[in-house]
Amino acid sequence: MPIRKPIDVGEAYDFAPIDAPIAAERQKAKRHYGVHPYFTRRPHNVVRRYIQHYSRPGDRVLDPFGGSGVTAIEAFLENRHGIQNDINPFANFVASGVVDLAQGKREEYLQGLSTIEKSTLELLQQIEQATPEDLAAIRARLTLPPNVELPKSSDVAHYHELFTERQLYALAALRMSIDALRPDHVRKAMLLAWSATLPKLTRTFLSAEGRAESRGGSSIFSIYRYKVAAKPVELPAWQTFHERALNIIAAKDEIDQTIELRRRTGGWFGEFETFTCDILDLAQDLKESVDYVFTDPPYGAHIAYLDLSVLWNVWLGQEVSEHDRERELIVGGELDLSESWYVTKLRASTRACLDMLRPDRWFSLVFQHWNFRYFEAILDAAEEGGADLRAAISQVGDPIWSMHKKKNRESVLAGELILTFYNRGGSRRRATGHFDMPSAVRHYLARSTEGVLYGEELFNHIVVEAWREGAISALNVTKDEFTALLREEGWEYSAATHQWHHGNRRKALF
Ligand SMILES: C[S@@+](CC[C@H](N)C(=O)[O-])C[C@H]1O[C@@H](n2cnc3c(N)ncnc32)[C@H](O)[C@@H]1O
Repeated sequence: MPIRKPIDVGEAYDFAPIDAPIAAERQKAKRHYGVHPYFTRRPHNVVRRYIQHYSRPGDRVLDPFGGSGVTAIEAFLENRHGIQNDINPFANFVASGVVDLAQGKREEYLQGLSTIEKSTLELLQQIEQATPEDLAAIRARLTLPPNVELPKSSDVAHYHELFTERQLYALAALRMSIDALRPDHVRKAMLLAWSATLPKLTRTFLSAEGRAESRGGSSIFSIYRYKVAAKPVELPAWQTFHERALNIIAAKDEIDQTIELRRRTGGWFGEFETFTCDILDLAQDLKESVDYVFTDPPYGAHIAYLDLSVLWNVWLGQEVSEHDRERELIVGGELDLSESWYVTKLRASTRACLDMLRPDRWFSLVFQHWNFRYFEAILDAAEEGGADLRAAISQVGDPIWSMHKKKNRESVLAGELILTFYNRGGSRRRATGHFDMPSAVRHYLARSTEGVLYGEELFNHIVVEAWREGAISALNVTKDEFTALLREEGWEYSAATHQWHHGNRRKALF
């Protein structure tokens, strides 16, 4: 693989870090929002700001846990060389699918959509109205995906049971027509639209009571397992696909406009590359060849990505090897990966990021968890790999709170902490020290003169302070103990704002 040198502008990279949170604009970019669902997508405007700040045009920007590709796509559009890696082929399918929209003309895509309509609409209507006997006849004309076993946590045992018969056949009919499309970039774009339609046309689609049926969502993205509805909702196949295809064409328009603007103002030279492997294997190939790493690794036992991606990987024909399944950075999942595996791997992954980075470059890692051992693994590995922690920014207060946060309130840490390191080279080990957590909490609360704060900001502050004091390994507080400490100090949690308020100070202010 050719490795380009960054553009030499004759300045060191040792500049001041970003030192304040950036408000998330989740829904503004059509290239990320509405194109295709993925788990835990990072806000593109925050990622873009970090790329602009910590790298230069022509630089190689890597996300080794790339997911839906926000980092590498934004790098590509920012005239960098975006490098997307994910162990999950489904993630790379989404990321490359978005970048490939830069190819060809809008009219070709509209033409492709109309070809699919002409060849499938009638069959889709037949499927909708078919009797059980008719369905058996229709089935003979279609190619169905393999009926593999599903992870143990699923409500149903086999792949086909994720669908009603009509859903399975409608998706197969659409797929047949898409596979025959040409040119290839149009086929890929329509396949992306089909893939985005997939979770909507399954029994995992749960519609919320009192709202239009189509307003629901798949259990894959809300409760992170294959839960199927007792009474399945069968959304109309053509309309559902058509809507997704138009979203994709809108994303193409946006990408075309961004590139065109660059062409007219200084030139366009963005590049994009993907790898599908374990981060530690990637580090063997990309040693000291990257100018900026921005990444967001999995947070413990939260989401089993490979299990939940079976829906896509199976029907897209993307194999996941046993080697990779055993190397997924998660706790639990079908292979029941242990917590000690996760901590060891998190440590090795942090170190791998630094191994791939050139000296005198930056590395940002996004994380959030109640478990101090996870932070310890990241921070210690970075230090041992020769990186200085230069910024720790709490990104909290996102206008869209997750259902999980709304339901479980203060016991859920929302938002994330962005840890940014400067790779000065060499290696160092922090001396162990002492840290008095309750007094650090009291001290922080006493400084909050406005009487209102996010618990996450305080928690993140404690993590970083304890680590700076060389005492994170001794820190051991449960979420209940942490929130009890705030209550003892006279602070109350507001479920409306998800902030903590101090009664007396609030009265003084209002
Ligand atoms: C939190 S998600 C990243 C989401 C991404 N930031 C986005 O905006 O879409 C973490 C990703 O790490 C991937 N992953 C898990 N274990 C991995 C490993 N060992 N090597 C590479 N990728 C891995 C998962 O498949 C998942 O897509």
